[in-house]
Amino acid sequence: MTKFFKNLYRLMLIGTPLFIIFNYIRNFLPNFKTKKKSKKIENRIYNQFHSINSNEKWFCNNLNFLSTNFKNIQNVKTMLEIGSYEGRSAIFFLKNFSNSNLTCVDTWSGSDEHTSVNFKLIEKNFDLNTSFYQSNNLLRKYKMTSNDFFKQNDKYFDLIYVDGDHSSDQVKIDLINAWNVLKNGGFLVLDDYMWWYYKDYKKNPSTPINNFIKKNILNISNLTVWHQVIIQKA
Ligand SMILES: C[S@@+](CC[C@H](N)C(=O)[O-])C[C@H]1O[C@@H](n2cnc3c(N)ncnc32)[C@H](O)[C@@H]1O
Repeated sequence: MTKFFKNLYRLMLIGTPLFIIFNYIRNFLPNFKTKKKSKKIENRIYNQFHSINSNEKWFCNNLNFLSTNFKNIQNVKTMLEIGSYEGRSAIFFLKNFSNSNLTCVDTWSGSDEHTSVNFKLIEKNFDLNTSFYQSNNLLRKYKMTSNDFFKQNDKYFDLIYVDGDHSSDQVKIDLINAWNVLKNGGFLVLDDYMWWYYKDYKKNPSTPINNFIKKNILNISNLTVWHQVIIQKA
């Protein structure tokens, strides 16, 4: 509860438009105390997951949120993920949308917040965790920056998950590039909307995400704001 009000306060400090704040408030009750439900999903889908630190399960907090919001969505076939780390989010999306394939883009070298992470091991775990999907051509791995990926990419996607470099400048660029290759009716899922790592709050992902939503509002058919943001392209 305290966290909820702290987040509200920070959203107001950075000048978040009221319609986005109301959307966040509206999602409070449906997402209140969903830890147990997320844990159940976690136990089901990550039973043999390789990880250097089993406490680093940031993505698992969103399992119930994502499963609920994508419950009745079936027409997701091609997916793109920016920022894969050890493969937790990749595995969720591949399991949630059976009959889909996923393109994973990561430098496997981290960004500001990864000060003492052994990325050789992280990448090795990613390969172990996703070996079934990679060997069955359901997952393609691109070891490069998101900017370099978008420069050479000519494909369009039904769902794009953005969880790479979290600095506001890079999030802004990733959002523009992702939107350009998202199909009409497709979903853009943005992580770390409530991540307040940089002391200057405006340097965190929430500011570029707010600006992006404001700018593209006429082209958005559905918006769900919680700790992650789901945007459906009209
Ligand atoms: C928070 S982690 C991703 C977590 C993953 N999605 C999960 O849920 O388990 C962020 C990842 O983004 C990658 N990254 C950082 N900057 C990047 C960039 N410019 N392009 C692509 N990936 C980047 C890092 O190497 C790191 O693995």
